[in-house]
Amino acid sequence: MAEDGSGDRGRAPASRPAFVWGVSTSSFQIEGGAQADGRGDSIWDAFCRQQNRVSNGDTGDVACDHYHRYAEDVALLRDIGVDAYRFSLSWPRILPRGRGAVNEAGLAFYDRLIDRLLADGIDPWICLYHWDLPQALDDLGGWTNRDIAGWFADYAALVARRYGDRVRRFATFNEPCVFTLFGYGFGWHAPGIADRTALHKAIHHVNLSHGAAVDVLRDAVPEVSVGAIHNRQPCFPSGTSKEDQEAALAFADYWNDAFPLPQHFARYPAKLAEAIEPFQKPGDMALIARPVDWFGLNHYSPHYIKADPGNVIGCSFGPAPADVQRTSIGWTIVPDAFRDTLLDIDARFRLPIYVLENGTAADDKVDNEGHVQDIGRIAYLQAYTSAMQEAISAGADVRGYFVWSLLDNFEWTAGYSQRFGLVYVDYPTQQRIPKASAQWYSDLIAAARRTPVGTGRQMTDVVAAKG
Ligand code: FCB
Repeated sequence: MAEDGSGDRGRAPASRPAFVWGVSTSSFQIEGGAQADGRGDSIWDAFCRQQNRVSNGDTGDVACDHYHRYAEDVALLRDIGVDAYRFSLSWPRILPRGRGAVNEAGLAFYDRLIDRLLADGIDPWICLYHWDLPQALDDLGGWTNRDIAGWFADYAALVARRYGDRVRRFATFNEPCVFTLFGYGFGWHAPGIADRTALHKAIHHVNLSHGAAVDVLRDAVPEVSVGAIHNRQPCFPSGTSKEDQEAALAFADYWNDAFPLPQHFARYPAKLAEAIEPFQKPGDMALIARPVDWFGLNHYSPHYIKADPGNVIGCSFGPAPADVQRTSIGWTIVPDAFRDTLLDIDARFRLPIYVLENGTAADDKVDNEGHVQDIGRIAYLQAYTSAMQEAISAGADVRGYFVWSLLDNFEWTAGYSQRFGLVYVDYPTQQRIPKASAQWYSDLIAAARRTPVGTGRQMTDVVAAKG
């Protein structure tokens, strides 16, 4: 496809399919069952065991115990009334050492989950990789080892053969920019490496793995609908200096373009191309840029970036303007940035867009009546779905919206201190309490279903009416 967007592959047909309302989760953040039934360690298990990596020393050992309580969780999904549920597979639950011996019990867990979802009329969307790399593969260099493209393709083939009879929607990666930059560039996330060469190798090998998996999925699943999930946010200079302005542009290369550009247009942003060149082989870019069916977007808030010469990429997060409202995790609330991001993606990539994560952390508390009145989350979701409506009305081809997240869960280095769920989890008892926002979302979906399936505009009228 031409980079000017003239290609038009995958544009909305005259009669548009129904808008998809969903919620998203990920394996490490909710499953627990870390030692159950032969699961292997992931890099996040090992990372959590290190001192001072995760708030409060929290781990994923139990998490939301979804591994044992999945049926109850599917019932929550059914009660909310979602069309689709996006979850990720734990690679080390299926292949405890990342390759070689298969753990049948791990595969069987996802069989049960998928069958439960289908029985309740919920479309399963599988993400192959949401950050929990098998530790055994990290011992071989993880994403810095070029061989990982083959390991990932083999894992994708196994999964496609097992679930492809029931699952059509597959995403290769969740937020490759985040786990490469935080895991290999800044050292904040597993595996905790801060090294420029490792970062650039990891970026290229993840891109190669994406292309390899797309091919495998297309071969194995006849009606497959495949994409990748990118976190894209505007990157603003934190201050007014020329250095901060340049830093914001450099940061955007890593955050916004290091994966979508090669995957869609077979090229890296110019400066990154130089850094990656030593690890590239002839033919790589064609292997990476395999056609996909949609663009998956995770969006939360803009970034404010400062020059940081001590850092491996020379820039990092700076302070946001003081007058912008924030969520409990400190992320700014700027719905217009969501609208603009959707329009920008639409113009650049000319593919159907699925918003596969959007939501907010909040300081949720159970009141004396046993309810959780998360009015801040409802206001956030109202504002962001309205911004999506504006983008659709202005022509963006947005086909679905998934809230992050179904349940409160393990929020990476913040551990269990940040609650993102529509459903509250009382960790000591594992009791689930749907919050007011779960009812709000349920009402929104029900109202959307009552309107005739048609244009995005009709769907968004519903959002506006609810808002
Ligand atoms: C995204 C991650 C997801 C969750 C949300 C809050 O970056 O994909 O796992 O942590 O942020």
